[in-house]
Amino acid sequence: MTQNLTREQLQEHIDRFPRMQIAHLPTPLEEMPRLTEKLGGPNIWIKREDMTGLAYGGNKARHYEFEMPHIADQGYDVMINIMDYHSNNARMTGAAANKIGMRYILVLKNAANRVVQGNLLVDKILGAELHLLDEFQSNDAEGYATNLKEQLEQQGHKPYLVQEHLFPRIVGMIGFVQAGIEMLEQIENNNLKNIHIIGVAGRSLCGLIIAAKSMGLNWKFTGVTVNYDVPLGDYIFQHSKDIQELLGLPITFEENDMQVLDQYVGEGYGVMTPQVAEAIHIAAQTDAIICDPNYTGTVMAALIDQVEEGTFDNDETIIFLHTGGLPAIFTFADQLANFKG
Ligand SMILES: Cc1ncc(COP(=O)(O)O)c(C=O)c1O
Repeated sequence: MTQNLTREQLQEHIDRFPRMQIAHLPTPLEEMPRLTEKLGGPNIWIKREDMTGLAYGGNKARHYEFEMPHIADQGYDVMINIMDYHSNNARMTGAAANKIGMRYILVLKNAANRVVQGNLLVDKILGAELHLLDEFQSNDAEGYATNLKEQLEQQGHKPYLVQEHLFPRIVGMIGFVQAGIEMLEQIENNNLKNIHIIGVAGRSLCGLIIAAKSMGLNWKFTGVTVNYDVPLGDYIFQHSKDIQELLGLPITFEENDMQVLDQYVGEGYGVMTPQVAEAIHIAAQTDAIICDPNYTGTVMAALIDQVEEGTFDNDETIIFLHTGGLPAIFTFADQLANFKG
């Protein structure tokens, strides 16, 4: 049997890492009473990672508190990131790079001739050096970015191409191990029982799982797949050894640590299903919560459907992990504005 850590002991593990404080913390944990009433199932709460404050907020503010100093400490002086034109990651990486004073080059796929709004507009305002690829160029975005990287190296820079490195992303997960300690306190203060957290099947949820397992908490986790191309749910399973070595925690992971739901993806990343559009309207018209069309809207659709299917026990407290993504609603303005529920 492994020995559970106290929250102070877990905090000591976290405090060994360099950190820059760029997120507004703690984020609120609040009730969604009107959604709870509408669905007539278990009590639904929300953890507001959309309120981390960094350039419209989102989960990556926590990740970059740890990931960005890790990258800068290795002497990198310019970041290159390859993302889709409406990416939240693209925006938040730019914001975190500005905070630490790192030059930021953004290679955006399927971005040529797009209306400049949503995340793309914020990228521009943040001063990202934009390379807007057309559909043809997007087929080899990696080749395009590698070329840029080689040119920078020839000029004497040490460029960091995000997609070539996995370990720093694991370092970034520490931000959500920290969030686990924060949530434990909020859960206790509100006297919540039978915790069941639902969010995107990705790094943030994995960070919370690490925290819960380290402290011996019996929180349940449901991860919703949002993209068939990225096996987000595999983070802790494929990298559990890296996580253990990194954090020095006496924990192992089992398949049932996260129940993964992949039936809500629809046609894939960047294509909003009618079910997601409806969920976005329901969350907004009950508890005034704005979800995004790719990530949190999909999780909200899953939550609503699972409550309606009676999958959750009525004595559970469901916590919806809102990971941000707000500027993306403007990219889907036509579809959302014309939605008839
Ligand atoms: C709004 C939002 N939620 C969740 C995620 C998944 O992130 P992670 O795997 O880092 O938890 C992303 C990724 O970009 C995102 O933009």
